[in-house]
Amino acid sequence: MAPVERDLDAAAFLACKQGLLINGERVSAASGETFVTLNPSNGEPLADVASAGAADVDRAVRSSRRAFESGVWRTKMTPRDRVNALLRLCTLLEEKREEMAQLEALDGGKPVSNARNDDLPISTNYLRYSATMADKIVGETRPVSVPNVLSYTVREPVGVCGAIIPWNYPLMMAVWKVGPALAAGNSLVLKPAEQTPLTALRLGELALEAGIPPGVLNVIPGIGEVAGAALALHPDVDKIAFTGSTSVGQEIVRAASGNLKRVSLELGGKSPHIIFADGDVSTAIDHASAGIFYNQGQDCTAGSRVFVERSAYDQVASGIVGRARAMRIGDTMDLATEQGPLITAEHRERVASFVDEAASDGLDVIAGGSRVAGHGFFYEPTVLGPISNLARIAQEEIFGPVVVLIPFDGEDDAVLQSNQSRYGLAAGFWTRDLNRALRVASRLRAGRIWINGWGYGDATTPFGGFKMSGWGRENGREVFDMYTEVKNVWMRFYDS
Ligand code: NAI
Ligand code: MG
Repeated sequence: MAPVERDLDAAAFLACKQGLLINGERVSAASGETFVTLNPSNGEPLADVASAGAADVDRAVRSSRRAFESGVWRTKMTPRDRVNALLRLCTLLEEKREEMAQLEALDGGKPVSNARNDDLPISTNYLRYSATMADKIVGETRPVSVPNVLSYTVREPVGVCGAIIPWNYPLMMAVWKVGPALAAGNSLVLKPAEQTPLTALRLGELALEAGIPPGVLNVIPGIGEVAGAALALHPDVDKIAFTGSTSVGQEIVRAASGNLKRVSLELGGKSPHIIFADGDVSTAIDHASAGIFYNQGQDCTAGSRVFVERSAYDQVASGIVGRARAMRIGDTMDLATEQGPLITAEHRERVASFVDEAASDGLDVIAGGSRVAGHGFFYEPTVLGPISNLARIAQEEIFGPVVVLIPFDGEDDAVLQSNQSRYGLAAGFWTRDLNRALRVASRLRAGRIWINGWGYGDATTPFGGFKMSGWGRENGREVFDMYTEVKNVWMRFYDS
């Protein structure tokens, strides 16, 4: 055991009653209702949080609308002012790194070393990229075939945006929406997941401290079916950005149709990780293991289907099983922990039910497959194989530390089976053959492809899915298309 020294600011934040953050103030829900967020490592309550209802959503949207229409952020502050304010927020996140990392670890079941070394610096980098883009969102003049006119485009903010985010990377998912929305001059109402509301609330407070005017970013924790649904339905929200399950994504689309608000969706995945025998198989084993077990497999790009060329199958299977058995499972506040708990007891039951059903159907569970005894929501890193790509466990997103191994014979078979999925978020493969690399990259139907390495991402690269994995792209310059409207202006001038 190597328990982390508790951060005093994180402890002080946890001791506060957590309100909604609307118009620069912490307020209770109109109904007075609260919900409890748990520490998944021990199942104990961590904090009591105000629970937004439809009336609170409306109040937050009205506040964001006032902030938008007043121009306090969008026009009275110049683009460079917005760059500077968002960069100040990055500096605050750096200063509060330990506090934020501990809140993230306690609330979301992340090993604190991951929260410190990955979630915090990576989130801050994403936000910094958006910040520096605030004065680089540009229009163009167009060469129209009409005499004596100037025709140009401008990119204007969409208006009031709503963001609904999941619990697997609470801070990172928040900044993926907050950064580009605010950089482009929008106002944003952010609804964090009910399992992990704390770092989003703290981010909202730090935004005020950084000089982002009240109402530009409102943070309203609440239950999905209540607060999230009301936000998606609200007639005065111009755009909704959602990350979460595919089924809720479909509900968001339906709710958004009332006022035809713009919709962007980052949904599920069942990403194929293909190991060709001509690749660097031993490194591939490391990446395939990390690619499913990192963050307890609660990752939309988890490499949850590992396809292995038959001649390499035994080596890969024993390698991944070895990694699964060696993972140090433990409390998130222990620095030695490599794998934390799943997010909730219900989620663990869902994960376990997939494995139990597969086992009772006679599929081979070759590592793990059990809940870990105790109060936290721990589940063993689990490997099944060899199995068919058509098995339910190979088609449904499990969102846990469960990987299926699927043997294949040749390139066509690998590509065909990989694409046999309703998802298309990420895909990756290992080969030393340059022709194969380019061929397979072009044949795989997914929004992100990794060759000879899994899991890379950067603020500069567009991220999003084909098929039922979503609509639109986040990050890169593409994300600013999602938070702006294009206006085309024509102005005639007179001959002298
Ligand atoms: P979820 O899709 O229900 O939750 C994501 C967000 O949507 C949360 O903020 C939640 O409060 C909100 N929400 C829930 N119902 C809503 C509704 N009717 N209208 C508006 N907002 C709503 O995901 P959940 O239940 O937490 O996890 C279930 C499964 O979803 C997971 O097992 C996993 O397979 C998938 N998932 C995928 C994620 C991804 O990044 N691709 C993230 C989280 C979950
Ligand atoms: Mg929690």
